Amino acid sequence: MSTLLETENLSIAFGGITAVDQVSLAVAPGQIHSIIGPNGAGKTTLFNLISGLYQPSSGRVKLAGEEVTGLPPEQLARRGLSRSFQNLQIFFRMSAVENVMVGCHRHERTGILSHLLALPNVRAENRNSREIAMAQLARVGLADLAEKEAGSLSYGALKRLEIARALATEPRILLLDEPAAGCNPVETEEIDRVIHDVAKAGIAILLVEHDMRLVMRISDEITVLERGRKLVSGKPEAVREDPRVIAAYLGTFGSEEANRA
Ligand SMILES: Nc1ncnc2c1ncn2[C@@H]1O[C@H](COP(=O)(O)OP(=O)(O)O)[C@@H](O)[C@H]1O
Ligand SMILES: [Mg+2]
Repeated sequence: MSTLLETENLSIAFGGITAVDQVSLAVAPGQIHSIIGPNGAGKTTLFNLISGLYQPSSGRVKLAGEEVTGLPPEQLARRGLSRSFQNLQIFFRMSAVENVMVGCHRHERTGILSHLLALPNVRAENRNSREIAMAQLARVGLADLAEKEAGSLSYGALKRLEIARALATEPRILLLDEPAAGCNPVETEEIDRVIHDVAKAGIAILLVEHDMRLVMRISDEITVLERGRKLVSGKPEAVREDPRVIAAYLGTFGSEEANRA
């Protein structure tokens, strides 16, 4: 198995609390690797470390074999890492396609000055961004709604719009933080399909998600975090039957309780 993303003993402390404690994991191209664990376990903090928002206290992040620990998000995007956020980051007054174009950043080669002067190559790049954005909208099933104001879209569509924007940098690895949070079963099904399709195209997926049915169905590998530490890691069948995991979740796997957790 070739590894695309790797963390080695990644840690960060806030005051006295070690939010992420010596976490090592690996994700291969086309693989769906999920991070689960109770609220406050450190899942989002782990994403923030990997995506360059936080500097780790210790440990390393490697992307395609190169160390990228602590590089800023734009540089990571250029190297093929992209993420979505737990809370919607949508510009509601802009159209769906414009929201995705915001993510096309990485492809823009012209500088701010030429934008100010509105040189012809800027107009060409805007066209190019629009084409890329349209392709990603089609990928998440939103091509027909491209020109609609984002504020008029359903919640499930907005969650997919966020994924489309993260895809606009054409990443090799996509980090998704609770992409199905707040979605009804039909919307969750659509997110499931999108994630599957993206993985099938060879993009690695690191997923944080509370919907256990989705996680168990979709993941190639699951890492369970508890109080910042890796509790267990393995295939879904093994993880769901692991006594330590059952204890951490009080045996509520697959129940409504666990799905809401
Ligand atoms: N910027 C921060 N400053 C202080 N504490 C933080 C910060 N970010 C996260 N934490 C703490 O780290 C722990 C893990 O939080 P988080 O990663 O959001 O958990 P999860 O996403 O698994 O619910 C929590 O105790 C949280 O309060
Ligand atoms: Mg979180």
